[in-house]
Amino acid sequence: MIPPTFVFATCRPGAEAALKREVATRHGGLLTPAFMRPQLITWKVQGELPGHFRLGAWLAQVSGFSLGMAKTPQEVAERAAVVNAAVLNVIPREVSEEGADPETWARVDATGVEVRGLLDLSPKRLPNPGDTVVSVIMGAEGEPMLVGYHRHQPGDLADPVALLRLSLPPEAPSRAWMKMEQALDWLGIQKDIQGRTVLELGSAPGGASHSLLSRGATVFGVDTGAMDARVLAHPAFHHLKVAAGDLRPGMVPDQVDLLVSDMNLEPRVVCQYVEKFASRLRPLGLILTLKINSAKVEAELPDLIHRIRDWAPGPVYVRQLPANRQEVTLVSWQ
Ligand SMILES: C[S@@+](CC[C@H](N)C(=O)[O-])C[C@H]1O[C@@H](n2cnc3c(N)ncnc32)[C@H](O)[C@@H]1O
Repeated sequence: MIPPTFVFATCRPGAEAALKREVATRHGGLLTPAFMRPQLITWKVQGELPGHFRLGAWLAQVSGFSLGMAKTPQEVAERAAVVNAAVLNVIPREVSEEGADPETWARVDATGVEVRGLLDLSPKRLPNPGDTVVSVIMGAEGEPMLVGYHRHQPGDLADPVALLRLSLPPEAPSRAWMKMEQALDWLGIQKDIQGRTVLELGSAPGGASHSLLSRGATVFGVDTGAMDARVLAHPAFHHLKVAAGDLRPGMVPDQVDLLVSDMNLEPRVVCQYVEKFASRLRPLGLILTLKINSAKVEAELPDLIHRIRDWAPGPVYVRQLPANRQEVTLVSWQ
């Protein structure tokens, strides 16, 4: 196959400039920005990429090598045919916080059906590590589609379209419901929450707790703020109305399965608390929202995450999920 000449990445609305900065820091000299549309950036490869190259950008939702642009499903299939794809995702380029409109989803879905038919691919299949995934980034009507591919690796979003399709149900107490649902989907543990014990630092008003409770977890929520009445009334919810620094050993079980933090504190401070609780409670997994609200925090984050890898329960992955705003989600699962 011809060596890739362009790399692409999608991101959440408004994250384009920060993604370009992140890629410049990671791969400056190797990639130069080529083309930018809302929520889609491409870079020109300077020279040749190493065989194991991964964009590895936290702010990228889907990324890979470009196979070029295509105007019709037939052209998409021709472009995609040069790689031996196991999975094909058609992804709307622009998805606002409220989601994409029904017409966009109808075009996306129709294109997916047609191209998968041409390539004889199943619509249901999720990728396994090592599988080739073709991504078709679909913009406004009439705009050429970008066709790209990557090899699926642990830490990649297995089903980015499902994450983008998710919308906030009216009964969810906060947008954190979306963040939790997307993080569980990313980790692939949605069906593994039943019967688990979760400690959530920064739980009010309760969107994340609502997600976990409805999946059968017992949740200990730590927050001085008020919890939503429906969450409070749930028999498996325990509100510890204290700041994380005032939490004492007898207040929570000796061991928890999942440690969650969504505290709106500096990531450095969040990690001090989480490391302390993780050493005592030995969780199987972590789901941490790390707020990036300044250039200083953005610059400190790589070091901080490097240190988290030393004590996290399993491999650590970081990504800006569609529901994240000025923040990234860090997950780790044994
Ligand atoms: C983004 S909100 C959390 C949203 C919540 N996870 C949900 O699902 O609705 C951030 C929360 O962190 C809490 N917080 C900030 N500092 C804290 C601390 N030291 N201990 C516990 N909670 C804290 C705030 O009170 C606030 O409710």
